Amino acid sequence: MSSPAPGRVLILFAHPALHRSRINLAMMDAVQDLEGVTVRDLYEVYPDFHVEVSTEQELLVEHDVIIWQHPFYWYSAPALLKEWMDVVLEYGFAYGDEGRALHGKRVMSALTTGGPEDAYDRAGYNRFSMRELLAPFDQTAHLCGMKYLDPFILHGVNQFSPEQVTAAAASYRKRIQELLA
Ligand SMILES: Cc1cc2nc3c(=O)[nH]c(=O)nc-3n(C[C@H](O)[C@H](O)[C@H](O)COP(=O)(O)O)c2cc1C
Repeated sequence: MSSPAPGRVLILFAHPALHRSRINLAMMDAVQDLEGVTVRDLYEVYPDFHVEVSTEQELLVEHDVIIWQHPFYWYSAPALLKEWMDVVLEYGFAYGDEGRALHGKRVMSALTTGGPEDAYDRAGYNRFSMRELLAPFDQTAHLCGMKYLDPFILHGVNQFSPEQVTAAAASYRKRIQELLA
């Protein structure tokens, strides 16, 4: 298998109600014209949740950086992204003695929360930090030999003004451009 060109970014985007999205839609729009970026809208591709394992594995192999982009739902990802993980990150492909296909790749969570930043703290109403809550993603990456990058997180997004949405989408574009460099 040949190595992908360094910096190729695969955005696995999971939002079950995109017609109601403000921020994730703006983020997706801000990055999809970037050369070297593949945006994959999982709910559009798999409305029936039947994730095609071989197609998804090929895409992973072809890219160097993987982004899990989604709104934070019940301290985790929307269900289809979890389904994607359950079926695509197979033993013998992603982990296990022969499972080295993802070794050396980088992966980053890009997510938005309704809760404000100070809620994600021991003293806040969500009691745990984002890094603590994201441990399953971090450890999934680790078990698959991937480096889990600092997540890109936007807090309190439902209160964002239109200008803040535009600025946040631009900062996401900048972060993705840095990963392409
Ligand atoms: C089913 C559901 C679960 C949610 N769970 C959380 C949560 O655990 N923490 C949080 O801060 N926000 C939570 N939210 C708020 C969403 O994260 C927020 O509305 C979303 O990030 C906004 O992005 P959008 O404009 O792209 O839809 C939840 C929203 C829904 C609909």
